[in-house]
Amino acid sequence: MTRRTIRFLRKGKVVELSAVPPMRTLLEYLRLTEKSKGTKEGCNEGDCGSCTVALGSIEDGHIVYEPVNACIVLLGQIDGKELITVDDLANDGKLHPVQQAFVDHHASQCGFCTPGFIMALFTLYHAGFKPTRQQIVDHIAGNLCRCTGYRPIIDAASQTCNGRITDAWVADSSAELLATIQDGEDVFVGDDQSFFAAPATAGGLAKLCETHSDATIVAGATDVGLWITKQLRVLPKIISVGRAHRFDTIEDHVGHISIGAGATYADAEPYLTAIDPDLGEAIRRVGAKQVRASGTIGGNIANGSPIGDMPPMLIALGATLHLRHGDAQRAMPLEDFFVAYGKQDREPGEIVWRIDVPKLNPRDAFRCYKISKRRDQDISAVMAAFKFTLNGRTISAARVAFGGMAATPKRAAQAEAALVGASFDDALSWNAALSALHEDYQPISDMRASAAYRVEMAKALLCKALMEVGSGRSRDTRLSGLREEAA
Ligand code: FES
Ligand code: FES
Repeated sequence: MTRRTIRFLRKGKVVELSAVPPMRTLLEYLRLTEKSKGTKEGCNEGDCGSCTVALGSIEDGHIVYEPVNACIVLLGQIDGKELITVDDLANDGKLHPVQQAFVDHHASQCGFCTPGFIMALFTLYHAGFKPTRQQIVDHIAGNLCRCTGYRPIIDAASQTCNGRITDAWVADSSAELLATIQDGEDVFVGDDQSFFAAPATAGGLAKLCETHSDATIVAGATDVGLWITKQLRVLPKIISVGRAHRFDTIEDHVGHISIGAGATYADAEPYLTAIDPDLGEAIRRVGAKQVRASGTIGGNIANGSPIGDMPPMLIALGATLHLRHGDAQRAMPLEDFFVAYGKQDREPGEIVWRIDVPKLNPRDAFRCYKISKRRDQDISAVMAAFKFTLNGRTISAARVAFGGMAATPKRAAQAEAALVGASFDDALSWNAALSALHEDYQPISDMRASAAYRVEMAKALLCKALMEVGSGRSRDTRLSGLREEAA
């Protein structure tokens, strides 16, 4: 069955829309169609958080609220969800507890950033636990104020986000109604020339992508959203992966995890952190909470960016990429997918299907580092990932991958070879590998970093990884995000 409408829950009612232009963003809908103007447009590129709204979806029988940036979410993508904006919170003239806490702590600031802060913290309020200060800071890392004043906001969050939920959305009040709009139908709004489609099954998704091989495939839209709002591209055919059943499944096997291409960073983070804590720390610095709630691991691979954060880490771990074209599937080492700048080994109509990520063996040591101008919510200048297989105090095999050092995420073949036999007890034995990085990479200079800086940084990061693994401690080499120190 095919449904030709978009349906979502709003203020206790089901909204059903039949005329949904494929590129219409949620923010445009709110401000221009619904005239709910409390949700603000700041950057219009997913960076400032002023457009933050909450999306509710049913997980294990309960509604879970996630913050998303309405400026880069497409309207069609909220099908089957509950939409809550800052305009909805006050009830009968009584402020929502998060709003009241802002008043009590003098945390209310300008009309652009404040609605976004409120909605981000609405979702933390509904998380149902008392967060630490660091968890609060992480939660609002994607909400920028250019005029300082974070301390009272954090105080307001500490007071109100305490695990006690007393607002109008308490106890899954919308769950029953939300359940009524969950169906197994494909969504297709438009015609063959211009449409927004969201197949209900993974097989249906693969088939539709094969039929419309010129369509734009959208997962979280954290990248495609900017093609629309900043590059003003015209994308008449959009296929969303978001409703495809089990396309976002993550399976935990004995020796590896298998990540469905539709899994978000938020979904995958605990599984990857269990492989190594550095992966969790790196994911914490991918965008902000809003971006990680929408953006997907598969999308980060599929767009082929040379500065994508995930590919170097997954390549160093030895990940295998699975692609699907109609009914046909094929697999390859992830590094082989990235052919050249802007070119991946993907046929028209073929989609990224699954990523298998090996777990570490007891003799493996892993480190990864992100270098960016700003700690949170920034694009990396250099992303480095290392896997060393140890034979006592000597390296018997190495996988080294960098982002930001070439036109694609790329392994350092010569450095890897030179690391074999290097000893943690003899720093001079590292020199051949450090020098080999000059042969492996000829980076460019751009606004994020000069070529010379990038090469020196790559060498410094390799040194850092060798020092940390060799000494079993990171206390001397990190400002924060310390790993568990070896006993
Ligand atoms: Fe800045 Fe949406 S307007 S994140
Ligand atoms: Fe709103 Fe700073 S951006 S007060």
